[in-house]
Amino acid sequence: MTDKYAVFGNPIAQSKSPFIHTEFARQTGQDISYQAILAPVDQFSQSLMAFFNDGGKGANVTAPFKEQAYAICDELSDLAKLAGAVNTLIYLADGRIRGDNTDGIGLVSDVMQHFGDLKGKRVLLIGAGGAARGCLKPLLESQAEVTICNRTYAKAQTLQSIFTGYGKVDAKPIDDLNEAFDIVINSTSAGLAGELIKLPEQIIASHTCCYDMSYGAETTLFNQWALANGAQSVADGLGMLVGQAAQSFYIWRGVKPATQAIHETLRAQLK
Ligand code: ATR
Repeated sequence: MTDKYAVFGNPIAQSKSPFIHTEFARQTGQDISYQAILAPVDQFSQSLMAFFNDGGKGANVTAPFKEQAYAICDELSDLAKLAGAVNTLIYLADGRIRGDNTDGIGLVSDVMQHFGDLKGKRVLLIGAGGAARGCLKPLLESQAEVTICNRTYAKAQTLQSIFTGYGKVDAKPIDDLNEAFDIVINSTSAGLAGELIKLPEQIIASHTCCYDMSYGAETTLFNQWALANGAQSVADGLGMLVGQAAQSFYIWRGVKPATQAIHETLRAQLK
């Protein structure tokens, strides 16, 4: 029998997850269906339980429900606990719900695909919201040395204190950044609002590679700024989207799908 999966969000029409997971299933020969479900903002848990009661085996969760998903889980992975948010749900055979978070693994695998191994690399993480928090454990486990900066410095300090046991991590006010990094990752939502974060240009040198977690048809504002300041190369978050989906698929199905071809297809569709 076909196993049912879905992604829940609001809005959800723009989601590429049904396309990605359907493609993963075709590629790996897994018998699944995957739909996008628009949950009313105040009825996430009702929508989710209706789906599970109707035979759903698992779900992805996107904005604005990742924290609510975290709260309703009976069981959480270490990654989900540390992220404080869940993007992958598994409906267990005994009716309990397990939550995981695959965003950080998606990010790190895509950053490594573009820029190589992160061991010993000096990484600047810009932003201290949910997106930053979700990727810190995998980043530190890749043995990158991470500096967190944020418009609201206190939030960067809070993240540093949460993750200090997982590797080399410090926090700095944006105005105190006076040296170049190997890799700069933008996790802020500034670009979504058409805004450019104010950053000192010294963070970029000719060897610096920049990654923007958001993506679009055009080079993102942050990546445009990085290139204008002499960065070696830039990448956007389309590959992170595919990477987090691949990790969710693996958690549900035990099979790792290939990601490169679908990444290229999605890129072509954006253009
Ligand atoms: P997400 O889950 O996408 O991380 P979030 O938790 O609301 O969303 O966090 C948004 C992040 O983008 C924060 O780090 C925010 O900075 P503040 O903590 O100072 O609010 C950052 N951000 C959003 N707009 C920004 C802007 N115009 N300039 C700089 N940082 C911005």
